[in-house]
Amino acid sequence: MEIIKLNLNERTYPIYIGANLNKIGETLSCFNLGKKILIISNAYILSLYGKTIERSLKDAGFSVFLTCVPEGEEGKSLPQAAKLYECCLKYKLDRSSTILSLGGGVIGDLSGFVAATYLRGINFINAPTTLLSQVDASIGGKVAVNLPAGKNLVGTFYQPKFVYIDPSVLKTLSFKEIKNGMAEIVKYGMIKDAEFFSYLEENLEKIKNLNEEALNLVITRSVEIKVKVVEEDEREERGKREILNFGHTFGHALEKATNYKGYTHGEAVAIGMVIASKIACKVGIFSQESLLRLKRLLQKIGLPVEIGEIDREKAFDALYLDKKRREGKLRFLLPERIGKVILTEKVPSSLIEEIF
Ligand SMILES: NC(=O)c1ccc[n+]([C@@H]2O[C@H](COP(=O)([O-])OP(=O)(O)OC[C@H]3O[C@@H](n4cnc5c(N)ncnc54)[C@H](O)[C@@H]3O)[C@@H](O)[C@H]2O)c1
Ligand SMILES: [Zn+2]
Repeated sequence: MEIIKLNLNERTYPIYIGANLNKIGETLSCFNLGKKILIISNAYILSLYGKTIERSLKDAGFSVFLTCVPEGEEGKSLPQAAKLYECCLKYKLDRSSTILSLGGGVIGDLSGFVAATYLRGINFINAPTTLLSQVDASIGGKVAVNLPAGKNLVGTFYQPKFVYIDPSVLKTLSFKEIKNGMAEIVKYGMIKDAEFFSYLEENLEKIKNLNEEALNLVITRSVEIKVKVVEEDEREERGKREILNFGHTFGHALEKATNYKGYTHGEAVAIGMVIASKIACKVGIFSQESLLRLKRLLQKIGLPVEIGEIDREKAFDALYLDKKRREGKLRFLLPERIGKVILTEKVPSSLIEEIF
């Protein structure tokens, strides 16, 4: 098992990678937390892993309560959070109690939000079960719910006591969800680590087949990269955390323009990374050869590299309304080479529209 520390002064915490869900009780015993644990998950994930985790926690002497939220992004809402507060009250959770998220990013964001706000904050633990949440959503303390007007509009930064990553749970995950996580993993290679990008190119089949060693390496490296960025800029105030949005400005625009039905998040990010790279080629800072490598890797994963049928007006509107707009200027993350991106405001909108 790998242990990576996320250093944030008194909120420093460990991320266990290659952990085994049936040992989570033992791990939790090492922390000085209260005895009551509320597991938040959904019915399907609980049917797969609920018994294992409940047994482990009970064997370690904890009182365990379980609650389910509905499947899907709709569950990440204020009404759903209100139901969870009721549940916390019903089980008499107090400031020493712990909320444990068992699920993907939806359940993690929602559970973290409830943990951050119930009684002004109780203990939070994250056991992410999708590849995307293991390499991205569970790391860094962003918790949120959606409003009808948009995604993640209400939230805060709230770090967990620890993150517990058991990659073996990915065996039951659909390939569509694996690809979502893979898009973010490619992003890490693009923004920070050329060697890691080459590793992905050379070991893709192993990763796709969920080979234990390859998977552990890929998750560990991704977490290391995200941890470094978060340590430098926890609250996205110093212009460092923005780097994690590589491919996302265009990606979000595509998702919005298709009402979140046209593309999965991973597909949109894949296309977004290609668009940013094409722009970088046009302005002469990125090579055609690197662009080809990126496209080839994404295609081998099974991710798209081009926009299909889309309402271009809507896409531009979404792009220009994107929250990354500063003082009327759009800022873009463009690659300089594989492993390095730069933030620039100097892209003429005519070029953006031509490529997009
Ligand atoms: N907080 C952050 O920093 C951050 C970063 C990225 C994304 N997010 C958020 O994460 C959410 C997306 O998360 P996601 O991609 O994990 O999707 P998700 O949570 O919706 O999970 C996807 C699907 O996989 C199922 N599932 C989960 N684990 C499984 C397993 N082990 N076996 C079988 N099925 C399993 C779930 O039931 C669900 O149907 C979005 O709401 C997004 O806003 C947050
Ligand atoms: Zn993303």
